[in-house]
Amino acid sequence: MKTYLVTGGAGFIGSNYIRYILKKHDDIKVVNLDNLTYAGNLENLSGIDESRYVFEKGDIADLPLVQDLFQTYDFDFVVNFAAESHVDRSIEDPEVFLRTNVMGTQALLDTAKNAWQSGKDQDGYPTYRDGVKFLQVSTDEVYGALGREGYFTEETPLAPNSPYSASKAAADMIARAYNKTFKLPLNITRCSNNYGPYQFPEKLIPLMVNNAKTDKELPVYGDGKQVRDWLYVDDHCAAIDLVLWKAKSGEVYNIGGHNEMENIQIVSLILERLDKPETLIKHVRDRQGHDRRYAIDPAKIKRDLGWEPTVMFKEGIGLTIDWYLANAAWMNSVLSGEYQNYYDNMYKDR
Ligand code: NAD
Ligand code: DAU
Repeated sequence: MKTYLVTGGAGFIGSNYIRYILKKHDDIKVVNLDNLTYAGNLENLSGIDESRYVFEKGDIADLPLVQDLFQTYDFDFVVNFAAESHVDRSIEDPEVFLRTNVMGTQALLDTAKNAWQSGKDQDGYPTYRDGVKFLQVSTDEVYGALGREGYFTEETPLAPNSPYSASKAAADMIARAYNKTFKLPLNITRCSNNYGPYQFPEKLIPLMVNNAKTDKELPVYGDGKQVRDWLYVDDHCAAIDLVLWKAKSGEVYNIGGHNEMENIQIVSLILERLDKPETLIKHVRDRQGHDRRYAIDPAKIKRDLGWEPTVMFKEGIGLTIDWYLANAAWMNSVLSGEYQNYYDNMYKDR
């Protein structure tokens, strides 16, 4: 019986992950720590098995709270999704990215280290009780941008370009340090762009689906030829859980499925599926510091753990678009909050 602490479990990937693990494992309990920022939504978890799941509203950077939760639940696993995750917002207001993504991660790491320590070895390193693990959910954006050729491997030097990716790189490095200096059982995963149900419509795919549906302009940054490497969210969830249970502590894994697409191709595909005209596309001012291309080499996770993506893009994008169309109530409730102000501020002068 394992008890998971999943942070950021009310967001896009975290909520999909909680659904995934409750289905996959009968003998687990899940505690979801989330402070419900604009991106956190408990409706993302509607219908899940409440008998093995607890929601705790709170901030990962609130050290006393995190310590209390470790005391109460005696976690075996921590999977840290909680983050400020949107690049455009990090350009407007970087500070909260540092607080949550860096200080929040450090509060979790330090608490896990103290709660899980069982003694010391002869060299003075902490030892830990059996079966515990911390998984830091990092991102391929920590590597910066690629040119036309090549892939990010786990050895690619980190060179983040946005305040978001810099804060994620800092978190990734502090996680690495807790493993090297304190031997905390830990892995880091760096995944490419996810798509699927429950993604907040500030991100490319749900934003474009929603705009196309309502005949609004589709704001494509710059020439739209930037490349992202898209992975269906369930495949990311499967990879994370595999790394958590099976990977050797200290290892870093890239996660991606060799599915590179230009933004403009995705936007055209959405218009085609919704039977809307290309004239809705509006090329707007580019994102500052916009990374041109991301592409993951997933050879290591395939070789070590046998992970491969199972959902091909053609199938996944169809499922995803249909999900947003079928879940108009979810979309409307998400759009009814602060979203309209955000949208007006972000896009009015572009
Ligand atoms: P999201 O923005 O949809 O969700 C983030 C969640 O974290 C929200 O529920 C929010 O309320 C919560 N949160 C934010 N600050 C918090 C705090 N201080 N304390 C507690 N909870 C807090 O993000 P997402 O797209 O689901 O991404 C999840 C993680 O995966 C992030 O760490 C992100 O960097 C990483 N990641 C995302 C992608 C992607 O394509 N979306 C790809 C690779 C890695
Ligand atoms: O690569 C992993 C990362 O993917 C994650 O770490 C981030 O949390 C996640 O947000 C995502 O970052 P991107 O910046 O790649 O995602 P976003 O959906 O914001 O943008 C995808 C591409 O589409 C990017 O090149 C910018 C472009 N874009 C985006 C929006 C919102 C547009 O052209 N127009 C838009 O309105």
